[in-house]
Amino acid sequence: MNQNTDFIPFSRPCLNEDEEKAVCEVLKSGWLTTGDQTLSFEREFAQFLDIPYALALNSGTAGLHLCLEATGVKPGSFVITTPYTFTASAEIIRYLGAEPLFIDIDEETYNINPTLIAEMLKKKSHNVSAILPVHIAGYPCDMESIRRISETYALPVIEDAAHAFPVTYNNRFCGTIGNAGVFSFYANKTITTGEGGMVVTRDKHLAERIKTMRLHGIDREAWNRYTHPGASWFYDVVEAGYKYNLTNLAASIGRVQLKKAIRFKERRREIAAAYISALQNSDYLRLPLHLEDHAWHLFLLRIVPEKLEITRDDYIIELNKAGIGTSVHFIPLHIMSYYRKRYGLKADDFPIALKNYSSSISLPIYPDLTDEQVERIIITIKEIGSRAYKKGIFPGRNSSA
Ligand SMILES: Cc1ncc(COP(=O)(O)O)c(C=O)c1O
Repeated sequence: MNQNTDFIPFSRPCLNEDEEKAVCEVLKSGWLTTGDQTLSFEREFAQFLDIPYALALNSGTAGLHLCLEATGVKPGSFVITTPYTFTASAEIIRYLGAEPLFIDIDEETYNINPTLIAEMLKKKSHNVSAILPVHIAGYPCDMESIRRISETYALPVIEDAAHAFPVTYNNRFCGTIGNAGVFSFYANKTITTGEGGMVVTRDKHLAERIKTMRLHGIDREAWNRYTHPGASWFYDVVEAGYKYNLTNLAASIGRVQLKKAIRFKERRREIAAAYISALQNSDYLRLPLHLEDHAWHLFLLRIVPEKLEITRDDYIIELNKAGIGTSVHFIPLHIMSYYRKRYGLKADDFPIALKNYSSSISLPIYPDLTDEQVERIIITIKEIGSRAYKKGIFPGRNSSA
């Protein structure tokens, strides 16, 4: 067992003096909240994705909320989404008094299964108001099938692209395929602003509604009324909006990170390739699908419980003892108290989500991970696996994960 005590964290933002300099400049400028940096970040982000509208927000959650609000999701209606996601994807449906309609995932990709969406809609399409697919780990959903379904039932598609920057599906960036897409810049995401998010869309009306609602329902860009000579002090409030605007401080970090996005992705891809090539012949492990483009926000390794005498949880404990931080993505929403109780759900209502959850371990995958660290992670995974294989050294433990 590798007893190296230098702990490798599961996740770490990749920041250096470039981001430090950008933030210091904003501090010196005297304008900390939404301003020129936010506008530039939006413009540069829209250029990157080649899309007309990019709207910066203080979180991806805020972006998802505003997209559903702007597409007209009504209380009591249903929004189709996956149970295999972070609670943000579903809680924003509840913000609007609507209900998530969970659909199980595809075992291979972890993404929502379009065949099951179609089956559900054949039985129940009344009062369904939108589809919210999530590109889990940064692997694109089957957007072609989802688009066909959305056309058949005239349902808007809001892409939860929190994990999916940048990644393409059929030569189009994820997030730009549906009616709108939402990115997250939370601290562990592929680019970060600490907290932050971005909505992108080609729909002018959606963009205008989100622009109004993200800053208190004020009828125009009110943030510049103190800085621009001649700008009027007057403004009107046309809606009860929200306080979801992104600060100049955060946007200045985002602008620097955006410039590094391709390089970051290249490094994550190298790390994923190293894991895959070293682990692909271990029959007690199952590796993520990587046939097409992948943003590699997460590397979802699966153990094959039948081949091992230890559980997934034990594997995580052993990795941790060896100084390797990991995580689990995701604990499916249908086994979380709130959703379980509200909708009377049982664990096996979504058997694939449950199965994938029970065997998955998220490995570290971020640009600052060194080759030596990647090597150490691989060696440790193999050491634990070979000790636990068939007749392992963990007697008395349950073999099912
Ligand atoms: C799939 C998914 N959607 C949405 C979000 C929400 O993003 P944010 O943390 O920026 O609000 C997250 C956050 O981690 C996420 O993993």
